[in-house]
Amino acid sequence: MIRKFFSSTASVPEAAAIPRHVAIIMDGNGRWAKKRLLPRVAGHQQGVERVRDVVQACIERGVAYLTLFAFSSENWRRPKEEVSKLMELFVYALEREVGKLHKNGICLKVVGDLGQFNPRLQELIREGETLTAGNSRLTLTVAANYGGRWDILNAVNAWLKAHPEGGEIDEAGLAAHLATAYAPEPDLFIRTGGEQRVSNFLLWQLAYAELYFTDTLWPDFDGQSLDQAIAWYQRRERRFGRTSEQLVRH
Ligand code: IPE
Ligand code: IPE
Ligand code: MG
Repeated sequence: MIRKFFSSTASVPEAAAIPRHVAIIMDGNGRWAKKRLLPRVAGHQQGVERVRDVVQACIERGVAYLTLFAFSSENWRRPKEEVSKLMELFVYALEREVGKLHKNGICLKVVGDLGQFNPRLQELIREGETLTAGNSRLTLTVAANYGGRWDILNAVNAWLKAHPEGGEIDEAGLAAHLATAYAPEPDLFIRTGGEQRVSNFLLWQLAYAELYFTDTLWPDFDGQSLDQAIAWYQRRERRFGRTSEQLVRH
């Protein structure tokens, strides 16, 4: 199978370029609400509003792919009421936003083990993906019931199914079956909320991403916060294993 993107580490991107793919762990909703003596769900609601701002900001800055971690495969461990509120919010956001995403030329993708969601939610996801499939201004990926380990195992199993004759799987073979195979690997990873961990997000795909951590809680993260992250990214020297001297460009 020929894919457009295999590894973003093969060539060195231009200095000061806008990251082509930004991946964000949107963390800190609960703490944002707690600080205001509000229920945790209020933080999640506010978080959805920020998604809208950041999507818009990415379009304005020329980011081509935005991937957002909305619900991890481990988040089912939360109290039942919080999980069901999150699901309601997801349904509500899709009902309210998909038409607008389409109008704005955004292609929506949802990656994760979607079979565990209720049928209504699965249907909305399918409809949203189908409606926006032809758009190319920004590819917005929402990772829902997603786990990086699940993604890798899924890819290996899909490869095995496609190769009943057996053989050895290689990097390109595995990458072709990852849930985000349609996108280049993330250039810039952002985690809000102060924690400095990956929490089973895009484990394979983040191999050479620049990792940016901010204490800003997700419901406070806006276009200006994104600009700060991009400015930080533009000061990094991406070497992909090479020496600094090898990077001198003409
Ligand atoms: C992130 O915010 C949203 C989800 C995981 C769904 P949290 O809910 O994890 O917020 P904190 O980390 O408790 O503040
Ligand atoms: C990671 O946040 C998942 C999402 C933002 C969807 P968590 O708040 O669940 O991560 P941990 O448990 O603190 O690592
Ligand atoms: Mg959290």
